[in-house]
Amino acid sequence: MCGIIGCAGRGDATLDTLLTGLGNLEYRGYDSAGVALANESLDVAKKSGELDALREAVADRTLHGSVGVGHTRWSTHGPPTDANAHPHQDCTGDVAVVHNGIIENYQQLRDELAADGHEFRSDTDTEVVPHLVEAALADGADPEAAVRQALARLEGSYAVAVVVAGVDAVFAARQDSPLVLGVADGATYLASDVPAFREYTDRVVYLEDGEFARVEAGGFEVTDFEGNAREVTVDTVDWDPEDTGKSGYDHFMLKEIHEQPRALRQCLQGRVDELGADVSLEVDPDVDRVQFVACGTSYHAALYAARLFRSAGVPAQAFLAHEYALDVPPIEDDLVVGVSQSGETADTLAALREARRRGARTLACTNVVGSTMARECDETLYIRSGPEIGVAASKTFSAQLAALNLLALSTVGPGDEQMREVIAALRDLPGDVQAVLDDTNAAEVAREYVDSDGFFFIGRGANFPVALEGALKLKEISYAHAEGFAAGELKHGTLALVTEDTPVFAVVTGDGEAARKTIGNVKEVEARDAPVVAVTDGESDVGRYADHVLEVPATNQRTAAVLANVQLQLVAYHVANELGRPIDKPRNLAKSVTVE
Ligand code: M6R
Repeated sequence: MCGIIGCAGRGDATLDTLLTGLGNLEYRGYDSAGVALANESLDVAKKSGELDALREAVADRTLHGSVGVGHTRWSTHGPPTDANAHPHQDCTGDVAVVHNGIIENYQQLRDELAADGHEFRSDTDTEVVPHLVEAALADGADPEAAVRQALARLEGSYAVAVVVAGVDAVFAARQDSPLVLGVADGATYLASDVPAFREYTDRVVYLEDGEFARVEAGGFEVTDFEGNAREVTVDTVDWDPEDTGKSGYDHFMLKEIHEQPRALRQCLQGRVDELGADVSLEVDPDVDRVQFVACGTSYHAALYAARLFRSAGVPAQAFLAHEYALDVPPIEDDLVVGVSQSGETADTLAALREARRRGARTLACTNVVGSTMARECDETLYIRSGPEIGVAASKTFSAQLAALNLLALSTVGPGDEQMREVIAALRDLPGDVQAVLDDTNAAEVAREYVDSDGFFFIGRGANFPVALEGALKLKEISYAHAEGFAAGELKHGTLALVTEDTPVFAVVTGDGEAARKTIGNVKEVEARDAPVVAVTDGESDVGRYADHVLEVPATNQRTAAVLANVQLQLVAYHVANELGRPIDKPRNLAKSVTVE
């Protein structure tokens, strides 16, 4: 979603710093971009489309300023036009604002400001902010007080950064939308996400809701909205700038798919003992019932996790976070687990907050240290996969499945399985994923079916979430129509769509009941002439009924699901690549969805 960068103390490098920061934030998804630099007056440039359009627009202009802000916009109020791109300015042109989030009372504010003679140039909710600052300045407030007075009028969620002509500082505030400061010698940064400024510093301060920052070359000051000083902690990020580069891969997604063995090792390190008999997590082991809340790919991980707990006899359910918040199920001593790569997804945060309000103990299962979820929940389980830049989740999903296995093992035990067997399978997982990556024929399968009318994915048990995830991955990066089903469900309606032009990917691992029944479903689609691609460990004879086989090493059924998913990630990647799609930045999508 929208991205913010700001800096003070970069002198002549201010514009470059802002453009570099915006480049680093591209992965969040955006449709326009802009910058504002403050000197005695403001220099502003903004363009719809890719960041290159902005770079071109500033190439033959001189933009000066010792402080500045930049923004990548993901449209909510009004289409992606130059006028709607941020920064937005007031009538005098002396105030520029970038904003992430949604100002809910903007229409009322806009009507009021328009009645006072303010002229609006965009359709956005954001534009009310510079006009509010302008009005406060006109009433005699100093610039910082004017920004505070403007913020006091806003309802909704926001991370904002403001520059004012003639002021050597950036003012910033956070309410329900992430904002982080970067601290370096002689320069200070602010951004919606650390990668924006990681190459300049690894020292960061995560702002809390209700905090206001004055950012200057020589440092920063954090207060609450009323101006009372707040104590902050300077954290050090534990990843390098190179971790957010492509390392020679054509796309971040392909790089991240290939990073999965390392991500899994990091996730498991120090948490499973050498003898394979125990798991240690810093999580309260006392769990009677569990509710998982999540969205998208993370919801698929939540479905998988709920099954693990149920197999140990513990009531567990996965909920789409946006539905949960509207219709909260009874909470009786439940642990409510928010599963979220970013830790910032607004829907999941809302569900967790509601659960907390009702007295539940909450746990964040996330990748991002210092994220809002990690800070708000009672406990945090980090999945430790390293930064994920591609919009499509890949290594984080695998790490979520591994981390949620650890959570189940350390709280309710191995369920239907033997502890040693599950731990051994988890320890083998990085190597097994590497074997899939080394031997995969997914590219060939992708080429065979790239022009199909549609794609179906089926699986049972632990492989049902894999089927859902296989379909989601394919549609989000290739734009092909794809649907995932519990294998038994296809015949209850969707079988009508199955033809010789709709390949069915059947995830069949092991040789148990789930496998046998799924093979029955495979025969049903085969009888309708649909091509079948079996994703299998070879334990059953599903290969006999398949046109193509994507093999995975034989292992425990829990970890087989992770391996099968890696094959489907690769199929999605190669179909999208064949179609020439912008794989890392699929249209309309954002990495971190910070609006409900
Ligand atoms: O950051 P989260 O895991 O909470 O994000 C939730 C979804 O937006 C996300 O999983 C999305 O579905 C994936 N990026 C799709 O690949």
